[in-house]
Amino acid sequence: MMNKLKRGAWLSIVLWLCACSSAPQGNSLYQALGEQAGITKITHQMIVNFAQDERIKARFKGVNMQKFKAGFALYVCAQVGGPCEYQGDSMQIIHAGYNYTNTEFNAVVDNLILAMEQCGIPVAVQNQLLAKLAPSYKDVVYL
Ligand code: HEM
Repeated sequence: MMNKLKRGAWLSIVLWLCACSSAPQGNSLYQALGEQAGITKITHQMIVNFAQDERIKARFKGVNMQKFKAGFALYVCAQVGGPCEYQGDSMQIIHAGYNYTNTEFNAVVDNLILAMEQCGIPVAVQNQLLAKLAPSYKDVVYL
């Protein structure tokens, strides 16, 4: 009887451990992106890539890119469940009135993907971040 109980208890612990290691944690995407330091590095690289992209580089002329970098990284951190609070304006307010196009949206996404590639982020993780950012499309592109 005692043995059965013990075995049952062990089994529960093993099942619990397995469940923990396989179930996605709330902040696993945040960790896979390298936490705040990794997200900042990706954002930095994305900005470097913007500067070489004829589709969008003119859009960032005169923009304070230090502020953009900090704000974008905080936004991503918050979107992926990291311990950050994005306190900037909404995506809608920031991007309204510029008539950003589908092509420009794709260019931003392309440069983000390239940056993640350059930072060694696995494709499956890249796709998880893109899925989190995709809903922002409706707040950026109105055309
Ligand atoms: C995945 C889509 C996008 C996301 C998630 C995004 C996110 C953001 C965020 C978080 C900021 C605020 C940064 C800060 O705190 O200063 C911002 C600013 C900005 N975004 Fe976007 N953005 C997206 C698409 C675009 C596109 C397609 C363009 C145009 C090519 C664009 C142009 C800008 C500009 C120019 C600013 C700076 C505004 C200013 O400070 O005057 N964004 N974006």
